[in-house]
Amino acid sequence: MSNDPLLQPYQLKHLTLRNRIIVTSHEPAYPEDGMPKERYRAYTVERARGGVAMTMTAGSAAVSKDSPPVFNNLLAYKDEIVPWVREMTDAVHEQGAAIMIQLTHLGRRTRWDKGDWLPVVAPSHQREASHRAFPKKLEDWDIARIIKDFADAAERMKAGGMDGVELEAYGHLIDQFTSPLTNELDGPYGGSLDNRMRFCLDVFRAMRERVGDDFILGVRYTADECLPGGTGQADGIEISKRLRDSGLIDYLNVIRGHIDTDPGLTDVIPIQGMANSPHLDFAGEIRAATNFPTFHAAKIPDVATARHAIAAGKVDMVGMTRAHMTDPHIVRKIIEKREEDIRPCVGANYCLDRIYQGGMAFCIHNAATGREQTMPHTIPKADIRKKVVIVGAGPAGLEAARVAAERGHAVVVFEAANNPGGQIRLTAQSERRREMISIIDWRMGQCEKLGVTFHFNTWANADTIAAENPDVVIIATGGLPHTEVLSKGNELVVSSWDIISGDVKPGTNVLIFDDAGDHAGLQAAEFIAKTGAKVEIMTPDRSFAPEVMAMNLVPYMRSLQKLDVTFTVTYRLEAAEKSGNQIIAHVGSDYGGVAKQRTVDQIVVNHGTIPLDDLYFELKRGSKNLGEVSYDELLSGAPQTVDRNPEGSYQLFRIGDAVAARNTHAAIYDALRLAKDI
Ligand SMILES: Cc1cc2nc3c(=O)[nH]c(=O)nc-3n(C[C@H](O)[C@H](O)[C@H](O)COP(=O)(O)O)c2cc1C
Ligand code: SF4
Repeated sequence: MSNDPLLQPYQLKHLTLRNRIIVTSHEPAYPEDGMPKERYRAYTVERARGGVAMTMTAGSAAVSKDSPPVFNNLLAYKDEIVPWVREMTDAVHEQGAAIMIQLTHLGRRTRWDKGDWLPVVAPSHQREASHRAFPKKLEDWDIARIIKDFADAAERMKAGGMDGVELEAYGHLIDQFTSPLTNELDGPYGGSLDNRMRFCLDVFRAMRERVGDDFILGVRYTADECLPGGTGQADGIEISKRLRDSGLIDYLNVIRGHIDTDPGLTDVIPIQGMANSPHLDFAGEIRAATNFPTFHAAKIPDVATARHAIAAGKVDMVGMTRAHMTDPHIVRKIIEKREEDIRPCVGANYCLDRIYQGGMAFCIHNAATGREQTMPHTIPKADIRKKVVIVGAGPAGLEAARVAAERGHAVVVFEAANNPGGQIRLTAQSERRREMISIIDWRMGQCEKLGVTFHFNTWANADTIAAENPDVVIIATGGLPHTEVLSKGNELVVSSWDIISGDVKPGTNVLIFDDAGDHAGLQAAEFIAKTGAKVEIMTPDRSFAPEVMAMNLVPYMRSLQKLDVTFTVTYRLEAAEKSGNQIIAHVGSDYGGVAKQRTVDQIVVNHGTIPLDDLYFELKRGSKNLGEVSYDELLSGAPQTVDRNPEGSYQLFRIGDAVAARNTHAAIYDALRLAKDI
């Protein structure tokens, strides 16, 4: 038996967990009609198959009708959920993993204009900044009703075959009771700590009575809100001891921080550029103070840190949640001593930011996550070995190369630059986005193992390609910045890439016109503002940087606000003209009736890219399919069979930004879904 601390079993009451790694509760927003149907099941089972000890499903399934879903949560208050849960738990257990579910009442952390339009409830009228609803202050009958709802939901989950239930307390109703900041009730549920904890313990008591002793109950709670006047560290230790001493609960899952604002949430679940495992020592302090089973997750993305967490006795079970979205087979690879093959989580937080925009959680560089029914995590071998030539070694080209090589094909990649990475290499110029380079490094490592041939510093043309005698050619040449957006003076502007790459020196008084709204605009702003320059970001949109999304915006704002960058929304840069050594920017508005001017010494335009597609069009006439893609075949997972040109000698495809400006995930998805069927 291995002596790896991570691979030691753990006895949680009657439940034997096969190792020390868990996936903590998270809602990927895959439910259909509030139920965990096929997509949800496939996603969950893949992690069990990959070897994790326990997967905690559902981010906070709702127990009550007045806790309507804010990110497509499961509806644990409906009886019809039981058979769906049963199918999922049976399938997970078959893989040897345990499975629990998180239940919650969101309290004020939701909106009244969802679900049944019932009033949002909380122990005070104060609204939560993130969700904006002004709550109704709970009455006695609400409290009794919700306690019963928790017990009913726990009973449903037990009937569905779950090994246990975890309560999502932090930021949700239970900790809204516990925190002095959000509880304005009088006794018996408000006032003293005893009173503020009463709701939590009443809920556990009601659930325990219903589910009996042979069922795990745990709580995920904040043991330090990190807010003036809130639950502090000393209170957190006291709360932890009281939870333990209640005898109702089997483990503690420790959170540090508060989630009522985007910055608060981002400190609880840190993203790229923020420190790894920032709350691990704190979780260790709770474990030491309580001597009670302690779980914890917060940016422990790599096996070495997870191993340290267990070996140093900081926690009993270590959560690697986003890491498992990136690679569901972490434990299998540890067991097989292939840790270098683990696809690394780069903290891009595309997964989590998407759900707060109403989308499903997708991983920025694993397009199979959440698409297990159609996209493979392990690529099957092809029957016939082909010669595949790929032009471009950005994320799309490298993913195509990796997948084609996994299929067993002979793969050759041409890249004009002297190293791989394309736009990702540029992105990683920013200190805080440096982790992005692992998207490239991991693929290069895999490609080298699989024998892919790379030619860097090579501008491939039709002759270069013909000399390879390919069966398939994939153009992944990306795009070039598109700055021609003005009616006059386009020659006076530079692109955000010019700034980020260092090709153009920042000005001293700069207008950034950003209607792409992605990272590049803010990255350029930060580069420029850090030189001491005056910077204004202008967008015609209602809000700036919409593609960056909520949690990714936090580190930018922390930096840009300090640097005194100004943000102007709903105005459009229309034209520019030279005036001595200055530039006059003519500004209008899509709403009409506005004509303003700015005098600056540099204008930066961030307007996405235009495809670099000359080679594709050059190669079209020599191809069998004349570049055509059958979308029916692509979407049904069948090989491409378009044959429109009897003279053609190869199939030709184009992926990523060489087709149209999109993002890293789209580029990688393009590559995976095409190359897996070649
Ligand atoms: C898409 C997504 C949804 C999440 N939803 C929940 C949730 O509903 N309840 C919860 O307690 N944590 C939720 N989390 C937080 C995770 O459980 C975990 O604490 C967090 O991702 C930090 O751990 P990690 O760095 O290992 O990913 C969510 C995380 C993700 C990525
Ligand atoms: S999107 Fe980023 S943070 Fe989320 S799982 Fe993927 S790599 Fe990790």
